[in-house]
Amino acid sequence: MKERKWWQSAIGYEIYPRTFFDSNGDGVGDLPGIISKLDYLEKLGVTILWICPFFKSPMDDNGYDVSDYYQVDPVFGKNADFLNLISMAHQKGIRVIIDFVLNHTSDEHPWFLEARTNRKSPKRDYYIWRDGKVNAEGKRVPPNNWQGFFDDSAWNYDEVAGQYYLKIFSKKMPDLNWESPALRQNIYQIARYWLDQGVDGFRLDAIAHLAKDLTWSDSPYDVGPDGTTLDSRKFSSIPRLFDYLREFKTEVLSRYPNAMAVGEVGGCATTEEALKYSGTDKGSIDMVFNFDSCWENGAYGSEHKSDEEIVANVVNLKHIFLRWYTDCRAKAWLPIYWNNHDHPRVLSQYGDIHFRKESGKMLATTLLFMYGTPFLYNGEEIGMSNVDYQEIRDFKDVSAMNYYKNAQRHMTEAEILRFLRRTSRVNARTPFQWTSGPHAGFSTHEPDTKVVGNYMDVNVESEEKDPDSILNFYRKAIALRKTPKILEAVIGGEFVLVDSEHPDVFAYAHKGATPLMVISNFRKFSATFKIPFAIKQILLHNYPTTEMKDGILTLRPFESYLLELSPEAKL
Ligand code: GLC
Ligand code: CA
Repeated sequence: MKERKWWQSAIGYEIYPRTFFDSNGDGVGDLPGIISKLDYLEKLGVTILWICPFFKSPMDDNGYDVSDYYQVDPVFGKNADFLNLISMAHQKGIRVIIDFVLNHTSDEHPWFLEARTNRKSPKRDYYIWRDGKVNAEGKRVPPNNWQGFFDDSAWNYDEVAGQYYLKIFSKKMPDLNWESPALRQNIYQIARYWLDQGVDGFRLDAIAHLAKDLTWSDSPYDVGPDGTTLDSRKFSSIPRLFDYLREFKTEVLSRYPNAMAVGEVGGCATTEEALKYSGTDKGSIDMVFNFDSCWENGAYGSEHKSDEEIVANVVNLKHIFLRWYTDCRAKAWLPIYWNNHDHPRVLSQYGDIHFRKESGKMLATTLLFMYGTPFLYNGEEIGMSNVDYQEIRDFKDVSAMNYYKNAQRHMTEAEILRFLRRTSRVNARTPFQWTSGPHAGFSTHEPDTKVVGNYMDVNVESEEKDPDSILNFYRKAIALRKTPKILEAVIGGEFVLVDSEHPDVFAYAHKGATPLMVISNFRKFSATFKIPFAIKQILLHNYPTTEMKDGILTLRPFESYLLELSPEAKL
């Protein structure tokens, strides 16, 4: 096999520590809780843990608002627990990457506290300050019409500082000014510190936004009732960003040749831009997460639609994976994943709770044999699904609450509740379902985010006992992907869609010495699919029998196959 970087053959797994496992009964998940589940993770077969932020934080955005990058927040444990986690994970051949928030800090970070109180402090320049404007009524208004990602102005007025500061997320998360060389050096130092402590790399949070349009000009888009509009071009993939990243590479990554960096570029980056971030020639990081495939179920923008009107666009979904592969193959590496902690549960999006087992396994097969490094999101492997909350107040999340405030103007409570159940990121943040016991075995204490009601049936304890469970299927599928022959076929072959315009079936193949094919029905109804190739063997299947006549497969709801084709197959 061709020499590859370790992460090209790895299987990633994202952990949301707050709701993964609570070891000390305070209702909040923690690092010792993750340590106690390392055996579980090892048995699952994952080999990279991406752990969402656990550093000191006022928790306005559950840890993405960092007030001390060098300390573990006491609610998650101690620094020693993290070092322990790294060494125990390493003993199991599992690497650990941390979620590094470098676009903003908490407003309680000492840098910001100093910046807002002292105009002359060198820290002032670590953030972005502007004077407001005065409107026709003589009222002070923000410097421009930019909206942030959490549904309000991208600016917040600070009484103490006497100016507005930029904050594209919550007002407790002021954006850092990457134009400041001193700030940048501080960031590199933090990164080197954690690499020296043994972490294997980073997931770089909100990386697309480090550089802003320095003209600060208004967006030409139509503004909403509050005078703002979300125009992410004002702070996404701006050319200057790539200079910062090159410096990050020089100052940090190139000194640790085994470290891996995966950047979150979200829904704002094209494949051409992705190559600027992660292209093997000129890029500075190893790969980027885009969100293009996350919303093809139709939930995005579905405020006024009934559940029946939401239908996944399977053709688009396939073409998105193909486009990223075609544009980046040989020029950049790719992560592949369904969803993360910012999205609803994939089982509710592309699967169906009425076909939980079938669709959970179908999603596993479809993802795990695609080209790239798979990243699972915790709970996906047991088929966790969206919340069943009946009250808007159960959506404990700063972005959901901001959304609610605005949506009240044009939507009923029932519509808002339905929309949040479909789209809110809280869906992914409910306590991990370990057992059928109280609080799903996540904690002995009532957690702050409610457990989903299906935990009596959907939990690790019962899936362990069921040889036919989603969990056991994941274990099998991951083990299979790791076998050298299959791995080589998946990442060393050539990925092609088969019958790419089929509206219901996602089928792809890998050309090469061991030709493989995945055929997945994405619908809750049956579909037929013509197999134009000779099959050597069925490697994975989520139904006990096969229905095939004259080369035409009848696929039952969410039926899915991984096939090895005969080497003569003309793909
Ligand atoms: C990223 C994170 C998200 C967070 C935001 C601000 O998008 O994934 O959870 O709210 O950045 O840090
Ligand atoms: Ca705890």
